[in-house]
Amino acid sequence: MTDPGPAFSRLFARELPPPAPRWTGFPTHNFVGGHNDPTLIPTRALAEAAIAVLERNGPTLALYNSDGPQGFRGLRELVVRKVAGRAGITCTADDVLITAGSGQGLELVNQLLLDPGDTVLVEQFSYAGAIAKLRRRKVNIVEIPLDADGLRTEALARILEDLGRRGIAAKYIYTIPTVQNPTGSILTAARRGELIAIARQHGVPIFEDECYADLIWDPDVPPSLYAMDPQQVIHIGSFSKTLSPALRLGYMIAEWDIMRRLVACKREADSGTGALEQMIVAEYFSQSFDQHVGTLSRMLHGKLDVMVEALEKEFGTAVEMFRPKGGIFLWIRLPDAVDVTKLVKPAADAGIAFNPGPEWACNPQGAKSYMRLCFALPSKDQIRDGVAALARVCFEETGIPARSANVRRAAAGQSG
Ligand SMILES: Cc1ncc(COP(=O)(O)O)c(C=O)c1O
Repeated sequence: MTDPGPAFSRLFARELPPPAPRWTGFPTHNFVGGHNDPTLIPTRALAEAAIAVLERNGPTLALYNSDGPQGFRGLRELVVRKVAGRAGITCTADDVLITAGSGQGLELVNQLLLDPGDTVLVEQFSYAGAIAKLRRRKVNIVEIPLDADGLRTEALARILEDLGRRGIAAKYIYTIPTVQNPTGSILTAARRGELIAIARQHGVPIFEDECYADLIWDPDVPPSLYAMDPQQVIHIGSFSKTLSPALRLGYMIAEWDIMRRLVACKREADSGTGALEQMIVAEYFSQSFDQHVGTLSRMLHGKLDVMVEALEKEFGTAVEMFRPKGGIFLWIRLPDAVDVTKLVKPAADAGIAFNPGPEWACNPQGAKSYMRLCFALPSKDQIRDGVAALARVCFEETGIPARSANVRRAAAGQSG
């Protein structure tokens, strides 16, 4: 018998997302999403930070937004010090808005700039959450081609000229310049300069998403786009990847003309970001940011090496890997004959979850043989076992990869 649903389901608004399935727990081999490494959550230090801030600031929990609608001043000051380092940004706590994860930053920028029918430029492969939010707002997504050095600026210039000829003014350029999601590239310094010049020439704002920028293998990276031109750029970042996605903390940096609009939009969206987690993160990271992020990055790099090795062993020449320059994901491509969307169900039945490429692409059809694997959550042994299990499912569904190391695979039930 089919479930008739609640009596008022006929009253639901027209444009809802599909209903959520009931949550049945995490899969055994979990390569999806942006989870962190559980062994590197500094639980004792966070507990000590919680006690310290509660003893010092506890009574302020009686107020909504005790430091104003932009968030806890201590955390905004921490963001100012942090981005003054590698990102090269000069700003004050008044230029920072603390958000409930950087996902809220994406929503706020969309709310600020987009109406249905608008045009937005997005990297060919990009964060699925950002693409989904744009689709729900019914905007036209125009893809910017990528290569190993990030978005291709000469192609961007051509696209903007073509749009201009057709009388279309793009609302913003969304880019993840430092450790691109999903490809893991870092936009070169030369291209950063070109991107800003092109954006200025066409009067299009740049929306810079620096979710993974602190988790890099080589610290010698170019300054952020916001540092190069604060008037042309809105900048967002997150504590999800450097510390914990469960704490739900991110931030936005923008000049006051934009900031005051973002603050107004956020006040409509919520009644403030959770104060206790803001205080705890400010307390802990004031002492330990460099040390924590250094340890985490080294650990992640080690796990990436294990994943690359496991993929080489299990998939051999059948896999093309786009080795990231930091972060938590490996973007891979399988032969054209493999449609990864057809692997999702059999993989799930075998306890494996991966992110299918089409969800990370402006043009889903063009990414049907790609997948994204997160290496942060599983242990090194779990990575090896999970990749072997994934290769087996792929072989059983498609005949690819035919070998594991130099041993020819046999279909289930066959020997030899
Ligand atoms: C590029 C990018 N931006 C933003 C987010 C949102 O993250 P959060 O809301 O946890 O900060 C993610 C999450 O994976 C992401 O990959």
